[in-house]
Amino acid sequence: MSYDVQRIRSNFPSLNTGLAFFDGPGGSQVPTVVGDAIAQAITKPISNRNVVTESEKNAEEIVRGFRHAVADLIDVDPRGVVYGRSWTQLVYDFSRTLAKNWQEGDEIVVSRLDHDSNIRPWIQAAEAVGATVRWAEFDPKTSELEVAAVEAVLSPKTKLVAVTGAGNTIGTRPDLKSIGTAVHKVGALFFVDGVHLTPHTVVSVKDIGADFFGFSFYKLMGPHCAALAASPALLETLNNDKLLPATKVVPERFEFGTLPYELMAGCSAAIDFIAEMAPGDGKTRREKIVNSMKSLEKYEDELMEYLESSVAALPGVTLYGRAKHRTPTIYFSFAGRNNADIYNALALKKVNVPASNFYALEVSRKLGLGDSGALRAGLAPYSIREDIDRLVAGLKEILA
Ligand SMILES: Cc1ncc(COP(=O)(O)O)c(C=O)c1O
Repeated sequence: MSYDVQRIRSNFPSLNTGLAFFDGPGGSQVPTVVGDAIAQAITKPISNRNVVTESEKNAEEIVRGFRHAVADLIDVDPRGVVYGRSWTQLVYDFSRTLAKNWQEGDEIVVSRLDHDSNIRPWIQAAEAVGATVRWAEFDPKTSELEVAAVEAVLSPKTKLVAVTGAGNTIGTRPDLKSIGTAVHKVGALFFVDGVHLTPHTVVSVKDIGADFFGFSFYKLMGPHCAALAASPALLETLNNDKLLPATKVVPERFEFGTLPYELMAGCSAAIDFIAEMAPGDGKTRREKIVNSMKSLEKYEDELMEYLESSVAALPGVTLYGRAKHRTPTIYFSFAGRNNADIYNALALKKVNVPASNFYALEVSRKLGLGDSGALRAGLAPYSIREDIDRLVAGLKEILA
């Protein structure tokens, strides 16, 4: 199950530019096979989905392939996979739909660790019906979002708990399974943002016990779109707004308008690419994905140790992510130095390390970083030690 990073890198034309990409948590680079799949899907005979003409069947097959690929990636029922333009759009859509069942006095729990896309839509939906929002707090000293911090704000009135699978700046990976158990004990729904988690580990939504789980493909070597999964039975219970002639069938009734078949083909190609990164002795696509993601996680964890220890040795640095269980993403700043200046200076050296709150606005504020945040460097399947050496050498020059 060895992870051959050079073989993997050879699939990414953008790596030939000499850029060192640490901006994967914002969006990863894309292998040629994904671009080819998009081009083929949009130029072959294609019509609106149906089962009569050859071109309709092509579209139908792409949609079926998309749902099955997502099902293999995150271990869900393909009949509950919903396509979305972005994760933010999916959360907004589902928050409005779920809020139809809320009323004054009901409680919704959001976490301070989350990207704003899994906070604000819930707050706005709660406000619209007079429901109360309660906050699960992470500890800024340890970076942990403890199960107890979620339990502390649960009550029999809780309708839904929205928590991230991993903080997209400080990397914290909360114990989702235990949180899910606590959430279900009070009879609430568990809504998990898997956007920053899914690119770094084996995900089994069944094992986590999330009622809703989603991620974005563009963080996962795919095109700019997202998916959400829930059990078809749960989706059946939701009464979303839809056009009159549009189908009532699940999951289609949550996908508005004509689907972008070409992007969906690209998504399936990205998942196939993941399956072939380090498939080991896997026979099914799911088995290959599990092997690949295990190998990737081991590879990234080792590289993360190198990244973190190298940056930690620099003068005046503060590293903000301290959780025991973390993604390979560091969030950091230097005493007396402006983050944006460092971001710009590194860019001139062809090293991509942006500075921002990255929409984890609550995290940034809680850490005392205001709204401007800090620098973020994240690893991706194509990251290598030489990238880290370039980053550290660049930082040394800039700080000197
Ligand atoms: C953890 C997390 N959630 C949500 C998002 C937003 O995803 P999208 O751009 O698909 O709306 C991001 C993107 O940065 C993210 O990192």
